[in-house]
Amino acid sequence: MIFTNLVQANLRTQILGQVIEYYSQLDSTNEEAWEMIDEGVKPGTVIITDRQLSGKGRNGAKWQSKADRSLTFSVIIQPNNLSGSISGVFPLLSGVAIVKALQDMHIKGGLKWPNDIMVKGKKLGGILCESRIQGKSINWVVLGIGINVNETANDFGNDISGTATSLYLEVGNFIQRERLLAAILNHLEILLNDLGKDSESFDINKYWTPYCTHSNKQITFQDDDKVYQGRFIKIAKNGECVIEMNGTTQSFTGAVIKNV
Ligand code: BTN
Repeated sequence: MIFTNLVQANLRTQILGQVIEYYSQLDSTNEEAWEMIDEGVKPGTVIITDRQLSGKGRNGAKWQSKADRSLTFSVIIQPNNLSGSISGVFPLLSGVAIVKALQDMHIKGGLKWPNDIMVKGKKLGGILCESRIQGKSINWVVLGIGINVNETANDFGNDISGTATSLYLEVGNFIQRERLLAAILNHLEILLNDLGKDSESFDINKYWTPYCTHSNKQITFQDDDKVYQGRFIKIAKNGECVIEMNGTTQSFTGAVIKNV
């Protein structure tokens, strides 16, 4: 059970989380968010569930989460006149908000481009950002976030093979999910306000790169069916990653980094 009043008691936001829709079970909080958008919803609404039955991951993957242990939620954002070309910045800013929230709890997290939350080299969570663009502007954004919070080693079973972790496994005690959610929303709203103030000169690197786990590192990554190697340089203005290969730089949108 998520106590939405406990989340809201810890909020310092004007918009995000002012409405929280809690479901004991749902197929996917992102899917529910889009249905709500179509029916008319207050921007900033958060949809959260304790048991997500068909969680969606990036690139068509499934997102598995343990009922009552993890945080699985979506935040509905209605940007004000933001160009569709920068929709790739939203998942990156969400990652920054999550790592800052972890920092508040004295937990050191890192970010692996584009949407992985890492702790000590293992995946703690991920972000699935979906947006609807009308004309040249972003109309709606659904930020779907899954974080492993109170899973024990038993909960992970055999299928995770040591590449995933939870906050409980890292810090050794159970974490109040409501407090973590409130901290994420508090940070996210500040970051989104910064983006909204001057999106033309907004430099995502200033926010994201300090937490990057592979800055300037030699990485192996896959884009479609091709595997590449190169040095991770930075994030482009639109959220793409810029890689140096054989003395020239190239940007990638949908790549998956394999080795960090
Ligand atoms: C990834 O790493 O592939 C992204 C995973 C995103 C999972 C979250 S859980 C809440 C929200 N609802 C979904 O169906 N997916 C996202």
